[in-house]
Amino acid sequence: MNADRYAGAAAGWASGATLVYAPVAALLVARTPIPLAGARVLDVGAGTGVCEAPLQAAGVASVVAADLSHDMLAWNRANRPPGVVSDVMRLPFPGLVFDAGVASFVLNHLTDPVWGFVELARVVRPGGAVLTTRNGAGGGDSALVIVSGGSGGCESLEGCTAAVPLSMASARCCRA
Ligand SMILES: C[S@@+](CC[C@H](N)C(=O)[O-])C[C@H]1O[C@@H](n2cnc3c(N)ncnc32)[C@H](O)[C@@H]1O
Repeated sequence: MNADRYAGAAAGWASGATLVYAPVAALLVARTPIPLAGARVLDVGAGTGVCEAPLQAAGVASVVAADLSHDMLAWNRANRPPGVVSDVMRLPFPGLVFDAGVASFVLNHLTDPVWGFVELARVVRPGGAVLTTRNGAGGGDSALVIVSGGSGGCESLEGCTAAVPLSMASARCCRA
């Protein structure tokens, strides 16, 4: 398993970075290519749970939060969905068991982000969706939302995604 680089970071993340990451998470969920009402969703690299509020607002049936970091998953635990300490590179789930997979600013942490994406797609049923954001190549204020419909067999990012560049600035505007 990869090293936990977020040990001890949960409080700071929840009170600081979340101000930027939460509105991007809301945009990511809003871009879903499939209806999320009633969906079973896996949120990998869930951190302190910024994707959970928009997912609940979309009417999902259930969320499972997965993260390498016990500390991040433990944050606000009493008000969070079930959490599983696990590596997105090797998820502890059988294939095709979720309707959607979410990875908000996680793939950019991986030495092999395509493998992480494919592993997330593995546990999503055909016709489901993989929703991801990562830091954009352009610098600190950009983000990239990647939305993939009809997963369950993706072999590369290029083969099964449509990439929609966003900026953190526009994300904040959308939130207001
Ligand atoms: C930038 S934070 C994003 C947290 C949350 N998704 C958000 O949008 O606020 C990255 C998260 O991914 C987790 N992470 C990093 N590498 C991971 C891996 N290989 N498997 C699972 N989680 C990982 C970190 O522990 C951290 O919680």
